[in-house]
Amino acid sequence: MTRDVWKPELYARFRAERSRPFFDLLAMVRPRLGMRVVDLGCGTGELTAEAHKRLGARSTLGIDSSPAMLEKAAPLAGDGLSFALADIATFEQTTGSGFDLVISNAALHWVPDHPALLARVARLLAPGGQLLVQVPANQTHVSHRTANELAREEPFASALKGYVRHRAVLTPVEYALQLHRLGLVEEEVRLQVYVHELSEPADIVEWCRGTLLTDYEKRLPPDLWPPYLEAYRQRIAAAIPDERPYLYTYQRILFSASRPRVGPGTSP
Ligand SMILES: C[S@@+](CC[C@H](N)C(=O)[O-])C[C@H]1O[C@@H](n2cnc3c(N)ncnc32)[C@H](O)[C@@H]1O
Repeated sequence: MTRDVWKPELYARFRAERSRPFFDLLAMVRPRLGMRVVDLGCGTGELTAEAHKRLGARSTLGIDSSPAMLEKAAPLAGDGLSFALADIATFEQTTGSGFDLVISNAALHWVPDHPALLARVARLLAPGGQLLVQVPANQTHVSHRTANELAREEPFASALKGYVRHRAVLTPVEYALQLHRLGLVEEEVRLQVYVHELSEPADIVEWCRGTLLTDYEKRLPPDLWPPYLEAYRQRIAAAIPDERPYLYTYQRILFSASRPRVGPGTSP
């Protein structure tokens, strides 16, 4: 496993803004009695716990690959809610007949090859089960472009051995087609633009330091991380006029689809 650079406190700084899409996702749940739920990339678990409570789920399992995030989640466990260290890319259900709800908020974009990933994740669904995902799609924003721009420049490019964060996220149309190809039904795909009112443009640095930039932090040698962050700070300051408040636009894709209740070759 690579270095765990997730910082729960930093991630929590924009909790209100970051949880908005999660509640939009929850509104898309087709609730059923006694659901078995899994949350892929549950982070610090507060939103997993909220989903568990609101849905009155029979059981909810949150998985994450960051021990630091899971340490925060651990005290929330109980009453059918549990957490486990696992990688989304390899997670498999070992018991039972599948989940009634597979939910993932702002986590799948860390895993490559979404067509293959969706095929894997769809296999976690019980008949009639729902897959519900939110992924950021803000790669055209200067906050995201700048991170990759710096990765292509020295001394970072050599230290990163040419690594530039790839775009795992598909387009909304590609998700719609992929869900259909997997035999899922009732698909719904939305592109939504969130407008976050930050106090100043420099807040973008703090926002991205808690998520996007962790990818470079974990790959750069420790002595190059502060210069990278400082260069990022300067580029952002130069690129964005000093507006207060600063309106940080953030595009996200929300999608949902269900496994048919009765599939080909399955008896009713
Ligand atoms: C942006 S946070 C979102 C956390 C939570 N879903 C929320 O909405 O607050 C992304 C989370 O995905 C986790 N993550 C990233 N890659 C992962 C992987 N391959 N397997 C499991 N978790 C992963 C990170 O550790 C982090 O906790």
